[in-house]
Amino acid sequence: MTIISSTREVPVTSAIPQHVAIIMDGNGRWASKRLLPRTAGHAKGVQSVRRAVETCGRLGVRHLTLFAFSSENWRRPAEEVTLLMRLFVQALEREVARLEDQGVRMHVVGDLSAFEPRLQELILQAQAQTAHNDKLHLTIAANYGGRWDILQATRKMLIAEPELAANPLSIDESQLEKYLSMSWAPEPDLFIRTGGEQRISNFLIWQMAYSELYFTDCYWPDFGEAELLQAFEWYRVRERRFGRTSAQLHAKSAS
Ligand code: FPP
Repeated sequence: MTIISSTREVPVTSAIPQHVAIIMDGNGRWASKRLLPRTAGHAKGVQSVRRAVETCGRLGVRHLTLFAFSSENWRRPAEEVTLLMRLFVQALEREVARLEDQGVRMHVVGDLSAFEPRLQELILQAQAQTAHNDKLHLTIAANYGGRWDILQATRKMLIAEPELAANPLSIDESQLEKYLSMSWAPEPDLFIRTGGEQRISNFLIWQMAYSELYFTDCYWPDFGEAELLQAFEWYRVRERRFGRTSAQLHAKSAS
């Protein structure tokens, strides 16, 4: 797939977003409202992940990227971090066969070196086992941060192409983009954050320059097919100008 950069070219868009990126927020509050431990919200959140994968696959979305654990989430209580890691391991052990059946290719991006060896091994296995699929690319961002991504890309670029250091003015966006951790995917068309907060929280900060940003109060465990379709409907009528004027867009669609 040829990657179109929104800052260099105007991407072709479609009614259904090709790449959907989600911050799955509100698990803790969903649980607290029911007098349950926060971790129960994360466990319930796994069901919403399953539903989102199924709905995106059915509607023809090509890339679904989920923020499962940010580089800042290590600051949470130790027992919550442990449960999140356990859920991640369980999901990898139990769900990969289902992903296979659905034609889903799985990727995990982030600094995986901080994870226990068993988790790292399962991630590599899941990626290898689904590598031949191409219907829907499911990317889990784990121990991921947008600033980390830009930094690691810069380091990789300078290691691979040391001559650039002597000629920094020759570096353009496309050179750095090759080393970003999701370099295979187009930029997200639609970003969704559940749970009521209106922040990007160090997610795909390079790639979301022209993404449409959708915020909903719905907590992630309650985010089902109807809520996803509502977000898609909101997206469908957005005017994606990519820097152009509205008049230019209308003139183009009339011609
Ligand atoms: C944010 O809710 C959610 C997370 C930090 C974790 C998301 C993880 C899952 C949905 C489960 C595991 C995912 C996979 C892909 C297996 P929060 O805890 O910040 O909620 P709050 O804002 O209400 O406290």
